[in-house]
Amino acid sequence: MRKFPKNFLWGAATSSYQVEGSNRNCDWWQWEKRVGKPQSGNACRHYQLYEHDFDIVKSLNHNAHRFSIEWSRIEPAEGKFSKKELQHYLNVILALKKRNIEPLVTLHHFTNPIWFAKDGGWINQKSVERYLRYCDFVVRNLAKHVRYWITINEPTIFISHAYLFGAWPPQEKSLLKATYVEEHLAFAHIKAYGLIHKIYKELNLSSPQVSIAQNVMSFTPCRNSLKNRLAAYLRAKVYNMGFLERISMGNILKRMPLDFIGINYYSRQVVALKKLGPGNLAMDVCEKKHHRIAKNSLGWDIYPKGLYDVLLSLKKYNLPIMITENGICTDKDSQRWEYIHDHLRYICLAMKKGVKITGYLYWSLMDNFEWDKGFKPRFGIVDINYKTYKRTIRKSAKKFAEVCRTGVLR
Ligand code: FCB
Repeated sequence: MRKFPKNFLWGAATSSYQVEGSNRNCDWWQWEKRVGKPQSGNACRHYQLYEHDFDIVKSLNHNAHRFSIEWSRIEPAEGKFSKKELQHYLNVILALKKRNIEPLVTLHHFTNPIWFAKDGGWINQKSVERYLRYCDFVVRNLAKHVRYWITINEPTIFISHAYLFGAWPPQEKSLLKATYVEEHLAFAHIKAYGLIHKIYKELNLSSPQVSIAQNVMSFTPCRNSLKNRLAAYLRAKVYNMGFLERISMGNILKRMPLDFIGINYYSRQVVALKKLGPGNLAMDVCEKKHHRIAKNSLGWDIYPKGLYDVLLSLKKYNLPIMITENGICTDKDSQRWEYIHDHLRYICLAMKKGVKITGYLYWSLMDNFEWDKGFKPRFGIVDINYKTYKRTIRKSAKKFAEVCRTGVLR
């Protein structure tokens, strides 16, 4: 039996574009139409059905819920802020609070308004001030009801998929542009961190908890060769810690502009270099079948111990850690419960080793639009029927609900 701390936050996460539906002012919407990729359409109709969804959240004993605000709804045209959409998100937050569920609000989860994307997106030097203007509007108006803010979701994934691999809009493949974007996102976070704290002081509210959601992976060297071990070590440094180091370097206070570290953990990479070269160091993985390991339906390795290793490697920052995402897409729900159970087991072990962990948010509350992969991958503890939008609670959700209720993992 493993016991979690009393005030531990338990819940699940979503993001606006993936669940709300009809985000027509968003760069992804435009991109889907242009390239004919999977269309997000109505997604889960969460924009209309959030009260119903939060009844489910409550029935599952969650005491926290992470969701994101859609910038393109709030500011559909540059400098024109929508009071109606602000009210919508206020209603969303109040619907959570009414049920005694702590809201964790993400300000940027991969998507941008069309006007912003058209004018160079995050490559444009003005991106930082544009983002801050949006943050100022949202945070000032919602601060009274929110304690936890995530400024940017997975900066490293956003940069690599949108600006290096050319997979997501704006489909760039440029190291130089990726470097600019990293610089701008880092400053955007540092400044938003300061801004959010300033707003809370001005409004006489107690200090907020502000972080990013940093994607982390476990990197296992294939075979015990020096070059693979070295590459695995370097990859962890760059991929897991790079952005964290970047924001602490860029900050004149010389301390981390984070009140806690939010991490998203899913999988591992087995590192096997084909040859020594910068691209190989960054990307090569073992393609042989000699690593027998279960995978999710997208083919990602399932490796719970990796979460433990990453948690211990983050201990040096001396900050509380929150698991802001961890989850599996699978068509076999029993595999989902096993996944949650095994990751929670390793979280317990990490806590025993002195890592301070304050919460666990499963990705995702419901099946949803998985970006360029469309609706096929099923990550939810709640099943969505995309024809009727009917929600069906899966068994894994009920098992997880027991842990949320008792704080005990059996
Ligand atoms: C993370 C994203 C989230 C979702 C999961 C599966 O990288 O933050 O939106 O797509 O992966």
